[in-house]
Amino acid sequence: MKTELCKRLGIDVPIFAFSHCRDVVAAVSRAGGLGVLGAVAYSPAQLELELKWIDEHTDGKPYGVDTVIPAKYIGKGEGGYSKEQLEQMITPAHRKWINDLLDKYGVPPLPDEVEHFEGLLGWSEQGGRAHFEVAMSHDIALIANALGPPPEDIISHAHDKGVLVAALCGSVHQALKQKSAGVDIVIASGYEAGGHTGEIASMVLTPQVVDAVAPTPVLAAGGIGSGRQMAAAMALGAQGVWTGSIWLTTQESDAIPALKRKLVAADSTQTVRSRAISGKPARQLVTEYTKAWESEDCPGYLPMPLQFLATADATQRITRHAQSGAEGSDALLGTAVGQVVGQMNAERPVSKVVYDLVEEYVSTIERLKALLDD
Ligand SMILES: Cc1cc2nc3c(=O)[nH]c(=O)nc-3n(C[C@H](O)[C@H](O)[C@H](O)COP(=O)(O)O)c2cc1C
Repeated sequence: MKTELCKRLGIDVPIFAFSHCRDVVAAVSRAGGLGVLGAVAYSPAQLELELKWIDEHTDGKPYGVDTVIPAKYIGKGEGGYSKEQLEQMITPAHRKWINDLLDKYGVPPLPDEVEHFEGLLGWSEQGGRAHFEVAMSHDIALIANALGPPPEDIISHAHDKGVLVAALCGSVHQALKQKSAGVDIVIASGYEAGGHTGEIASMVLTPQVVDAVAPTPVLAAGGIGSGRQMAAAMALGAQGVWTGSIWLTTQESDAIPALKRKLVAADSTQTVRSRAISGKPARQLVTEYTKAWESEDCPGYLPMPLQFLATADATQRITRHAQSGAEGSDALLGTAVGQVVGQMNAERPVSKVVYDLVEEYVSTIERLKALLDD
């Protein structure tokens, strides 16, 4: 099942795993796929520590890093705004509404001794570039970028170091932009995917992108959680699958137990494409939080990066409260996740998820081959 891309990257199976959790990334790479660490949640110093840890836990197997350098956000092209300037753009009405919502659900403020989550790490060119610099100081095999083509100098710097560059897209138009920017791999992310995603379903998007950017290799993303779905993606012309959601409920995942329980219990109707996380549409679990952002009394979503900045403390408070285990304490707790959540019905080790994908992929191909023989 090795594709050309597997050979270029030195991996055994064309399974790419996006995760913010270093344990998941290292375990996928050890299992023969390519783990890719999402950098957006880390400061450059934290990212350095995570990558150092991954270097020590991948048994020399390749891994990648994912940055977010958005094509469009507040301050882009104006040299960017300082965090203080951005804080001032968040209206008092928004701050009050968010606080009132958390009060309504009994979510306590953060204790004084708790360090506040830094709300403006990625989501801007400066943030993404800082992550890129750290990533390049490690022996990574792949750098991926979300929400736009990476800037030209980043692509050439990566190429100079022999690092392949990938970028996510949600339409043929975006895919062609990525290709002309010089990326090596286009990741076609369908409507059903977890996180930022467009409006075209994978079944339609993947073959269109494959044809539009050929011979540039394409990875299919969105809704892939089984070997049958992987076989379908490969049949559509993809050279591999780029997955995110399925790793959230693995044993290695650092998602808190309350969140894993909610994900395991959720079916595929319980996600929504909402601006609640970042200000741009991202698929996530339906919760009282996502519903509140759609309610009549809500002052409305803020543009990137203000939405994330305005809600960073709230997210931290919601997670801490859910960890208390008190009745109803998980009402607002959610995460980016795709429609494939309906298949995430048990917690499994990463190696078993990889094994199950491969095993079902092989039996699917054999079943289809047998149809030809009949
Ligand atoms: C919890 C979560 C966080 C994500 N964060 C990012 C991110 O920071 N950068 C990125 O490129 N993609 C991000 N994604 C999207 C994934 O890279 C991937 O495209 C997507 O999960 C594939 O669809 P699937 O969830 O159906 O597997 C995220 C996905 C999830 C589930």
